Amino acid sequence: MNADEITIRPISADGSDLAQLLEIEKLSFNQTDAWAPEDFNHWLSVNPDFCIAAEVDGRVVGSIFGRIQRYRLNIGSCAIHPDYRQRGIASALLQELGKRAKAFSIHQMDLEVRASNTGSQAFWQAMGFEQFKVSPAFYPDGEDALLMHIKI
Ligand SMILES: CC(C)(COP(=O)(O)OP(=O)(O)OC[C@H]1O[C@@H](n2cnc3c(N)ncnc32)[C@H](O)[C@@H]1OP(=O)(O)O)[C@@H](O)C(=O)NCCC(=O)NCCS
Repeated sequence: MNADEITIRPISADGSDLAQLLEIEKLSFNQTDAWAPEDFNHWLSVNPDFCIAAEVDGRVVGSIFGRIQRYRLNIGSCAIHPDYRQRGIASALLQELGKRAKAFSIHQMDLEVRASNTGSQAFWQAMGFEQFKVSPAFYPDGEDALLMHIKI
């Protein structure tokens, strides 16, 4: 997919993206991990500058959410509609997130990923993230989280 077919833009503050985000969430995560409307609204209220959508043909096909935690940017969610994966959309979202982080003088990003989510780990590794810690029983079902970070 050409970069010019993807529009990267802020998530709408008026809630008009929410239904599409929830649909992607349902297709991307199990019930425990999928964000509810309150989660999206919370992250949007914390750092709207770091809540970004990818649109193709006028449809939201993915998003990334970050928030500033002291000197670093924590990525809380990144999900792409299954029909649009492996076309460079998450990479484009991450690139925009990094650009915005640098504009806020932030030079580190981090995230948690399920130990069993090897596909996503491969994505973050391909983007230059490195694992630096394991957080035992981080998830409600007892699974460990791998903590990954990148300097930007
Ligand atoms: C992980 C996810 C966000 C990646 O989105 P994407 O738009 O498909 O990623 P990109 O197309 O930008 O991938 C860039 C590179 O990452 C790597 N990559 C991406 N997904 C991968 C996978 N499932 N397995 C192995 N490598 C992968 C590839 O090297 C890819 O480059 P290539 O296509 O040229 O080989 C997407 O698969 C997703 O939404 N997964 C479900 C939700 C999730 O687990 N989110 C992360 C929570 S921590």
